Formats: sequence, structure tokens, C-alpha cells
Amino acid sequence: MPSWSGDGANLVVNADNADFLPTLPDGAFTLVYVDPPFNTGRVQRRQQLSTRRAEAGTGNRVGFKGQSYSTVKGTLASYDDAFEDYWEFLAPRLIEAWRLLADDGTLYLHLDYREVHYAKVMLDALFGRDSFLNEIIWAYDYGARTTRKWPAKHDNILVYVKNPSAYHFDSQAVDREPYMAPGLVTPEKAARGKLPTDVWWHTIVSPTGKEKTGYPTQKPEGLLRRVVAASSREGDWVLDFFAGSGTLGAVSGKLGRRFVCVDSNPQAIAVMNARLDRWL
Ligand SMILES: C[S@@+](CC[C@H](N)C(=O)[O-])C[C@H]1O[C@@H](n2cnc3c(N)ncnc32)[C@H](O)[C@@H]1O
Repeated sequence: MPSWSGDGANLVVNADNADFLPTLPDGAFTLVYVDPPFNTGRVQRRQQLSTRRAEAGTGNRVGFKGQSYSTVKGTLASYDDAFEDYWEFLAPRLIEAWRLLADDGTLYLHLDYREVHYAKVMLDALFGRDSFLNEIIWAYDYGARTTRKWPAKHDNILVYVKNPSAYHFDSQAVDREPYMAPGLVTPEKAARGKLPTDVWWHTIVSPTGKEKTGYPTQKPEGLLRRVVAASSREGDWVLDFFAGSGTLGAVSGKLGRRFVCVDSNPQAIAVMNARLDRWL
């Protein structure tokens, strides 16, 4: 496994993130963006669960700021087997994300509507509720539409900061959006556009566009550009430990950030080595 150094090169790392993350030092990253798979490939099994209530600080693992998440975990897991596996997989990695964030750092956790509510509760317990910054809705328009319910056409990105009184956020650094009714604002305002909100309309990666790498689950650079521009500065280190095709690395390279991209799948590594070559 390659080793990271603050004045070293950008890295693409082929490893299970659970093995690699512990090799990185505390507080090294201004931004952590992760887009984990829901299906972790693990065989689901039913476990005997403790739903015993734990007072703060008395659970089987004391969370940050003295909060215990064993209570939350026990309660949630008793409702949903799949979530229990997901929790076991994700929680230790999110604890590592917290450790690796600088004091002014931010975590973006990209999920969909099936997982986001559980993860919100998990992150409230891990980071503290006052560290919750936003839930970004990425709305897109692609694919079939069921007629049996409202077709789900969005992803959810939970945003948590390490320190609510010290985090870096630069709203002026992001691309602006056209006004819906430009006739209602001054021509100067209309020309400048408006600051984006927490709802981002953006197409998926076009199957025929030049961004496409062929890697399934690839996210659009336009989304990640906002994340990187707002929550890091030039020269900062950013981390994606479920990196896939390396969208975070590509955007970071273009915006002058330094990056570490980790993935356990050799196909992802091949795609990233080709895509990120000029910054490695
Ligand atoms: C949803 S994809 C990420 C897509 C990425 N955001 C992009 O734009 O291409 C999730 C990735 O996590 C990787 N992965 C799953 N389990 C992992 C683990 N334990 N360690 C490292 N990578 C893992 C998978 O190989 C997959 O490439």
C-alpha cells in the first residue's frame, strides 16, 4: 500500500478502505466525500440484538462528544436486517472519516432515499447534531417512471462538519444558477445568477458524453465541483475512500486540490489511473 505524506503526490490506492484509512494521520483532510455502495455483498444474517437503552457514555462504544450510539444502533437494527449489515460496514469507516477531517473539515456522504434517514441518525450520533450542515438533494431526470407511486428521481447528500464554529465554506466559489423568473430581478442580478440552494438539478453522466468512463455508478463532475469549490481551498487535501471512477479526484485535480482516492475494485483503479494520470 502506498504511504501518504502531506507534501507528497496525489494517490490512487487499491485497498479495502478499512485497511488503508488507519495508515493516514489525524486531521489531514479538509474534505471527505464518499458515495458508498448500498449492497456491501455481505450475506445477511439475523443476529440477536440488544435493544437495551444506554445512557450517554455507557454504550458499547462511546461516540464523539460523549454520545453513545449503541442505543441508536440497537433500535434501528431491530427494525431492519439490511440496515444492520450496512451499519456494521459503514460506521467504522465514518468514524475514520471523522478522525481524518481537519478541524475546519467537512464530510459529504452521498446516499439515496433508502439509506439516508438511517444514516442521518447514525451521523447525528457520531458527529453530534450540531455538526449537521445540510441535506443536499440532487434531483435528476432519467430512466423509467413508475405509475404506482411518485417516481424517485433524486439522491441525498448529507453534509456534516467537524467543528460547527470553525468549518470552511465558501459560497462565492461555486457556480451560480439562472433565476427561474429573471424578469423579476435586475438585469445585473439576472446576468450574475443566484446562489445554489440545497436542491441541485443536474443531469446524470450522459451515456454518450465525454465525461463517461464506463464505470457504473459514476457521478457527474458538476456535482462534485460544487462540493470541492465550497468546502476546500486550493492546495487542501481531499479524500474519497469509495472512489469508483475517481470523480472527486478529477474535479480536485482541475481545481488545484490534492487528493487521495481509495477503491478495493481493480477495475476502478484502472479507470482512475487513466482518468487521473496527469495529476498523479
Ligand atoms: C458507488 S461507487 C462510487 C462511485 C464514484 N463516486 C464515482 O463517481 O465514480 C462505490 C465504490 O466503492 C467501492 N468499494 C466498496 N467497498 C469498498 C471497500 N471496502 N473499500 C474500498 N472501496 C470499496 C466499490 O468498488 C465502488 O467502486
